[in-house]
Amino acid sequence: MRNKRTMFLVAAVTTAVLALLAALVGGAVVFGGLYDVASTQEHFQLTHRVLEKAMRQSVKLRARDIQEPPLADEALALRGAACYRDKCVQCHGAPGVSPGDLGKSMQPLPGPLVDARHHWRARELYWVTRHGIRMSGMPAWEFRLRDEEIWEVVAFLQRLPDLNAPRYAEWMRKAPPAPACGPDALRAPATPVVVASMQPDIERGRIALHQNACNACHVIPGVTGARVYVGPTLEGIGSRQFIAGTLQNTPDGMMRWLMATQEVKPGTAMPQLGVSERDARDIAGYLATLR
Ligand code: HEC
Ligand code: HEC
Repeated sequence: MRNKRTMFLVAAVTTAVLALLAALVGGAVVFGGLYDVASTQEHFQLTHRVLEKAMRQSVKLRARDIQEPPLADEALALRGAACYRDKCVQCHGAPGVSPGDLGKSMQPLPGPLVDARHHWRARELYWVTRHGIRMSGMPAWEFRLRDEEIWEVVAFLQRLPDLNAPRYAEWMRKAPPAPACGPDALRAPATPVVVASMQPDIERGRIALHQNACNACHVIPGVTGARVYVGPTLEGIGSRQFIAGTLQNTPDGMMRWLMATQEVKPGTAMPQLGVSERDARDIAGYLATLR
């Protein structure tokens, strides 16, 4: 009995000492600034492999129930090629085309997608393109591209491994000019946009706030971000009477502020961010809840 008790005590003390040591080392690394955040500093090979594996498994799990539309049509892939040129080449490059400075110096490095078809299913490529990869620099395109445009890019990625540099150049000659996709693209939507309801989607609005970089300047309750005060805090914005001292704080007023900032108040320090109508409606809906 006595022995058991001593063993328990020794184990407890050892655990406590180890935990304290770990906390001290962790504290030194965080508060002492010992962790080197330089982008020129590489991960260990093992860390790299573990992160890569975790990322792949995460995508696989989340993409498993997505229905893939038919992707074999060449016209579809050609529109996707143009969109790839406009939105992806700067980071991922293409056959015979170097990525831009940004893409070449990012950490992790955005790899060439010429072999993506061989280790991702179409629905997984769709998922990655739509949702992005957090803490890697891979953007989420959900708020920039229409759903059918994302599938078009995926259709193009299915063809990419078969294109050498001259054939890629040939595809580019046939592809539609920029802007080929996104809200500025000059084309009729493949499926007419049916606005099911003009009701804001509040949770989508919360996400649209950080996908439109609002938290770069504003403290926004419910949205993770730095304590920045470049713009006024949006705490309690829902119960304020005026927006930026100029507009009545109604849902329409807020949408106008977000979509036409510089027309509403010429010269204001808040830039006009190109917020889409849908994003503006959802954001206004979310902001109205901040009371
Ligand atoms: C600002 C740079 C940037 C842009 C623009 C960009 N990406 Fe990425 N992409 C990345 C980074 C960084 C990664 C992560 C690489 C890693 O973790 O190995 C990535 C990863 C990916 C992956 C997973 C690749 C793999 O096999 O590991 C796919 C697929 C992808 N991007 C598709 C796209 C598509 C399609 C577009 C255009 C619509 C695009 N990306 C635009 C930076 C970018
Ligand atoms: C580059 C910094 C910056 C970004 C990014 C930015 N804002 Fe602002 N915002 C400001 C500044 C500065 C003001 C004050 C403008 C004024 O009063 O003339 C402001 C004012 C506002 C106001 C009025 C606040 C009040 O107290 O009346 C709202 C609401 C607002 N911003 C929402 C947004 C949303 C939503 C986004 C993202 C779509 C956004 N802002 C992005 C800087 C920014």
